[in-house]
Parts: sequence; structure tokens; C-alpha cells
Amino acid sequence: MAHVQINPSLLTTLKDKVVVLTGGATGIGRSTVRLFHQYGAKVVFGDVADSHGLSLERELGERVVFTHCDTTKYSDQLKLFKEAEKRWGRIDIAVANAGISLPKDPFLPDEDVETEFSTAEIDVNLKGPLITARIGLAFLRKNGGGDLILVSSIAGWKECTGLVAYTASKHGVVGIMRGLHLSAVKEGVRINVICPWMTKTGMVKGIELGWASNKLPENEPEDVGKAIILCATANRGESKERHEGAVTPFAGKILWVSGGESYEIEDNLQRLEPEWLGRENSAVLKRGQEFLMSEGTSWDVGRSKP
Ligand SMILES: NC(=O)c1ccc[n+]([C@@H]2O[C@H](COP(=O)([O-])OP(=O)(O)OC[C@H]3O[C@@H](n4cnc5c(N)ncnc54)[C@H](O)[C@@H]3O)[C@@H](O)[C@H]2O)c1
Repeated sequence: MAHVQINPSLLTTLKDKVVVLTGGATGIGRSTVRLFHQYGAKVVFGDVADSHGLSLERELGERVVFTHCDTTKYSDQLKLFKEAEKRWGRIDIAVANAGISLPKDPFLPDEDVETEFSTAEIDVNLKGPLITARIGLAFLRKNGGGDLILVSSIAGWKECTGLVAYTASKHGVVGIMRGLHLSAVKEGVRINVICPWMTKTGMVKGIELGWASNKLPENEPEDVGKAIILCATANRGESKERHEGAVTPFAGKILWVSGGESYEIEDNLQRLEPEWLGRENSAVLKRGQEFLMSEGTSWDVGRSKP
């Protein structure tokens, strides 16, 4: 377990950085926009909640711009990134934060199987970040590299009763990182994932009171925002500067945020693989991985070199 804590001197590296963020009108996204602004960054953020987005834009002034953006629509996200590039010439940091959860459980025994159920969580929580990752990578690549931060959830790596599609979507967000990180990092694009536990926003109304009476750990939205800016700055300082507990290059990491603190969990999962998979399995898997990642290997027959 690696407890990772912010080294405040690294936050000065955010000055004049250009940030694109989705779902910034309320909750975690709103707090994150405020933090980026506080440390001198320029932010273009999108959301479908226009009035909340516009009020934040008015509050924070000229370095913060709101654009209507439904993350499930490719053209809306393209417009969001182009807006940032048009205003400030480049993009340094992209954050896929927008998400929804539908509290009604279509898997319950009293649900009518004849009636189709909503898969909106897959669209917003998985298709949305996939689009952000594709467009974000292209714009960060143009800038010679940068940071892509994906907001998943505790439901991205743990069982989660009553939220099946949400849990599948958030596992998928971890999948975007694992599918893209190794090639992106070669281009200087670091992809990291944030997995918040219970955070006091509109999303958790159903469990909020019971959670508090069980005295379980809670995050304020700003705590998750701090984990996001930790990822956005972990690789940006002078050579020896680090966030406390952070292993650099800080890329391909997963930060679990609980009780206001951040814990990196991916490194240990990888490091302990021979123990949980078995030494022989782990060794042969390593050979397979080396083949798949070697020059000339491609899933696309047209690009594959034997
Ligand atoms: N609150 C928690 O306990 C918790 C825990 C784990 C993960 N998360 C994740 O954190 C992220 C932020 O959630 P939050 O807790 O701040 O909730 P929130 O509801 O306050 O914020 C989500 C934001 O996303 C926006 N949004 C929804 N659909 C959108 C779309 N199609 N296009 C653009 N914007 C859209 C909403 O309008 C809202 O402003 C989500 O991805 C959520 O799944 C939250």
C-alpha cells in the first residue's frame, strides 16, 4: 500500500497549464476546476448542466471557460478540446470526470424482464471517457506529451451491489488505462486513474445517512480534486521533486481515495502477480506480454510483421 501525499511545491507547475475537463459543473469536477484555477491553470470544462457550468465560469473569471458538452457525443468533445486549443494554443492536461449512476436496480427479482432497461451508465461512464482518451491523446501528442486522468470509482476494482452497469462501466475505465497506457507513455502521455470511495456529492444521496451513522470514511469533493491535481503534477517538477510516496514516472497508476487520502494500488497488484497467479503462470504470461508489445506485433493483419 502506498500512501501518496501532495508536495505543495509541485503545484506551482500548474501555472499557465491548459486543462480540459468533463463534468465540471457540480461535485468533484467543480472542485477540481476550482483547484486548477487556484494554482494558475487555464481551464476549459464541459458539462450538460449549463446553468451550474455558467455560474462557475462567471465566478472564476477569464482563465475558466464553460462549454456545453455531452460526453457521449463525439462532436461535443471534439468541440471542447478545440475550444481550449483555439484560446490557448495547446492542451497539457485532460480529465475525464463526467459520470452518472442510476440508483434503480434492473436486476432485482420484482423488475419486469419484458421491459428494456437503461444502459446510460455505459454511455456516459465508459463511452464518454473512451472518447476523451482518444481525442485527449491526439491533442496531448501534438503538444509533445501531457497528462490524461480518468475518473473511475471504487466500483472500478471492487464488488458493488445494486449498481451492475455502473460497476461494469467503471471497471471499463480502468480498462482504458490498461489498454492505452503502455503505448501512450512512449509518446510522453501519462495516463492515471482515480478511484474515489464515498464522496459527498449528489451521486451518493441514497447511502449518505447510513454511511455516516456507520462512521465510514468520507471524501469531500475537493479531496478527489486533490488526487486529480496530484496526478497532473507528479511528473512535472524539477528532477528530484516528488509527491510523497509517489513512484515516478507516475503513469499507469490507480489512486484509491478514501477518507480524504490517496493510496496507489496498481503497482502492488503488478508486483505481487507471481504470488497470486503462480510463478510459472506469471513467467509465461510475461513472455506473451513481451511478444505482444514487441516491434512489429499488431492485432491488425495489415500492420503485422511476422
Ligand atoms: N461521489 C462519489 O462517491 C463517487 C465515487 C466514485 C466515483 N465517482 C465518480 O466521480 C465523477 C464525478 O461524480 P460526482 O460524484 O462529482 O457527481 P456529480 O453528479 O456531482 O457530478 C457529475 C457531473 O457530470 C455531469 N454529467 C453527467 N452526464 C454528463 C454527460 N453526458 N456529459 C457531460 N457531463 C455529464 C453532471 O451534470 C455533473 O455535473 C463521476 O465519474 C463519478 O462516477 C463519484
